[in-house]
Amino acid sequence: MPSKTHLIYFSPTKTTKKIVEGIAAGLGSGEIEHYDLTRMEHGLDLRLSDGVAVIGVPVYAGRVPEVCLERMKNLSAAGVPALLVALYGNREFEDALVELRDLAICKGFSVIAAGAFIGEHSYSTGAQPIAVNRPDESDLRKAREFGAAIAKRMEKNSRLETPAMPGNVPYRERLPLGGIAPETDRDRCNLCGACVEVCPTFVIAATDEVTTEAENCILCCACVKDCPEGARALNHPVVEGRREMLIKNCSKRREPELFF
Ligand SMILES: Cc1cc2nc3c(=O)[nH]c(=O)nc-3n(C[C@H](O)[C@H](O)[C@H](O)COP(=O)(O)O)c2cc1C
Repeated sequence: MPSKTHLIYFSPTKTTKKIVEGIAAGLGSGEIEHYDLTRMEHGLDLRLSDGVAVIGVPVYAGRVPEVCLERMKNLSAAGVPALLVALYGNREFEDALVELRDLAICKGFSVIAAGAFIGEHSYSTGAQPIAVNRPDESDLRKAREFGAAIAKRMEKNSRLETPAMPGNVPYRERLPLGGIAPETDRDRCNLCGACVEVCPTFVIAATDEVTTEAENCILCCACVKDCPEGARALNHPVVEGRREMLIKNCSKRREPELFF
């Protein structure tokens, strides 16, 4: 088993985090180091030279979110083996995994395995649930088994090849986010600031009211899901349309796909 596991992830609603932690448990190394990029405003400045890395990102419009690329700008590795995770909301992961593979290789990692896992969709609500409560126990078990299988392979072979994985190069075009953001119900909001504390792009302020700088909102919905008063909601018509499409076309349960 590897001596040390480095967990590198961006995870506003924590589903990606749960999967990378599951994989780390399966890898079984004595030491686990977390590099949580979610609130790391200036990104990660790090050169890795030992152990194994698990790198996890959510899928946004079939791609790696731009904010993840920015936060990994100053990350590099000297041939450290890496397992990759693209976490998607039960629609599709499209080019996200190959984009993450190319990014990891470009930074000096040796990509030895990859997985596409499913997490509750950022746009999921109580009334319109999408992949609600995923990853569940079955997903987490698969994550642990995946980690354990890779640890075994690493023991037998110190030079594992990069596996084939689905996705296209050039990657699909990024969709503009369009300056949309969740809104606050002033009657419910008690200005506790929980939304400010979880926002990964630091666009929310709470003084005598909560304001959101919509241009830099990435629609992750961490503020919606973490508001203790249920005062934040993302009900823009564009997102409402998206939700309806997801419920109509993407309700059939997808299962994790592993590549190694
Ligand atoms: C802007 C945006 C775009 C998304 N695009 C996709 C997508 O293309 N396919 C998909 O299945 N899920 C998509 N999702 C859902 C996320 O991949 C999913 O909610 C993921 O669990 C979030 O990870 P986190 O919990 O680590 O933040 C999108 C979410 C957002 C906010």
